[in-house]
Amino acid sequence: MYLQIFMDQISLMPALAKCRLKGLRNANFEDCNLEYSFLDRVGPEYANLTGASLKYADCTGADFQSAILKRTNLYMAYWPISDEAKSRGIGETHAPFGDYKDEIYSAGLEEVLPQFPVDYRTLEARAAGALPPSVFSHVQSGCGDETTQIRNVEAFGHWGMTPRMMVDCSKRDLSIELFGLKLPSPLFMAPIGVTGMCTQDSHGDLAAARASVLTRVPMMATTLSNDPLETVAATLGDMPGFFQLYVPKDKALAESLIQRAEAAGFKGIVVSLDAPVIGWRPRDLKSMNFPELRGHVMANYTSDPVFQTMLGKAAVTDRKAVVQHWVATFGKELTWADMPWLRSITKLPLILKGICHPDDARRAIDSGADAIYCSNHGGRQANGGIAAIDMLPAVVAASGDTPVLFDSGVRSGTDVVKALAMGARAVGIGRPYVYGLALGGDVGAAHVLKCLLAEADLLMAVNGYPTISDVRAAGVTRQ
Ligand code: FNR
Repeated sequence: MYLQIFMDQISLMPALAKCRLKGLRNANFEDCNLEYSFLDRVGPEYANLTGASLKYADCTGADFQSAILKRTNLYMAYWPISDEAKSRGIGETHAPFGDYKDEIYSAGLEEVLPQFPVDYRTLEARAAGALPPSVFSHVQSGCGDETTQIRNVEAFGHWGMTPRMMVDCSKRDLSIELFGLKLPSPLFMAPIGVTGMCTQDSHGDLAAARASVLTRVPMMATTLSNDPLETVAATLGDMPGFFQLYVPKDKALAESLIQRAEAAGFKGIVVSLDAPVIGWRPRDLKSMNFPELRGHVMANYTSDPVFQTMLGKAAVTDRKAVVQHWVATFGKELTWADMPWLRSITKLPLILKGICHPDDARRAIDSGADAIYCSNHGGRQANGGIAAIDMLPAVVAASGDTPVLFDSGVRSGTDVVKALAMGARAVGIGRPYVYGLALGGDVGAAHVLKCLLAEADLLMAVNGYPTISDVRAAGVTRQ
């Protein structure tokens, strides 16, 4: 058994000698040397970046379950991993996500209260104060009178779980398998097109990638990014990530973006089907608040050789020209007739995002999709819809063994467990991690993900569901 440790503040490295874990008699972190740091990996321009992975400490024989952080002013993510996972650079099973609670309480005993909120309502309220009003409004708002996005959240309330007693849940396993990847948890970060604008340095996509490394929660990197997908992938390092494509009208541009994503090492392509046009968003319309039209999040286009050729290389620095060309090329009207083409342009797993009808799920699978992504875009694209979670069971039933990913309205670890109980293989987090980015960059987003995982893990422990299979077998009841 090994223990892998990540620390967020590279400047805190000298403090490491003071950092020990109770209950890990065989682990001596004073002997740990830096194995690598992000500085080595992505270059000096990110000198103020956070994160460093330490040498794997040999913890054979250590009683990990009782490990409690002694010093808690260092923010750490830790979990035991196997040799095999270590060699592949990813975390593995039995992560004690719920231990984050102990970490927070122990810090409290030393008068250190959590730096970031531990519940969604406070998180959103704090993010409202941290983000520029236009960015916050753009993230928070949705389509029409926003009924669908409100229902997405509320609908989780009418599903309930029944606890089981006398089940040994001292060890929980939240790991999943997805396209041959063994992931320590079922969470992923949904693609969010303005992530880049949500940190003060305007490199929120890279902060999200670092949060992914810190938590081992994979990221879906959006097409609409402030940094080119290659830089996002380099920041992810060994951590598997996925690339989300808004299919442009121009096929050569679509193929170029996919080839770049493959070359950069992404492990799957997520094609969003629900945005051939942008929906009717009154909050954005009222104040002409559409970041792309002001030239934001265009890095994947301006760095693309096909886009550059179409536009003329010199014009790539001309914001107006870029935006005009982006408007002209954004949003291919996809039909099922395009599936053979989409399937043919990547060897990577193909994930179709935005599928809510069982017939569409079946058709997607028949046409070669490797996964179905049930989502209504968080209610941002079409109003008047059914809550996403209420559509999940039929999509799962239609999908057979094909994995179904899910997002829209997930605000807590409890929501995560309910989505798993209803058949989701993996559960996407959207707005919550963006608010975490706004409050604390990579560390803030990692905190949000860790809270969700801790709540899910502890709920499983209390409800008598040691594994995700148990969660699924227990199911949910409509109340
Ligand atoms: C999104 N979403 C999205 N989806 C996508 O495929 N590509 C993208 O670039 C974006 N951009 C984006 C921006 C913002 C501000 C939001 C809030 C959402 C949709 C996203 O992936 C996911 O489906 C929703 O965020 C899920 O809803 P909740 O849980 O965030 O309400």
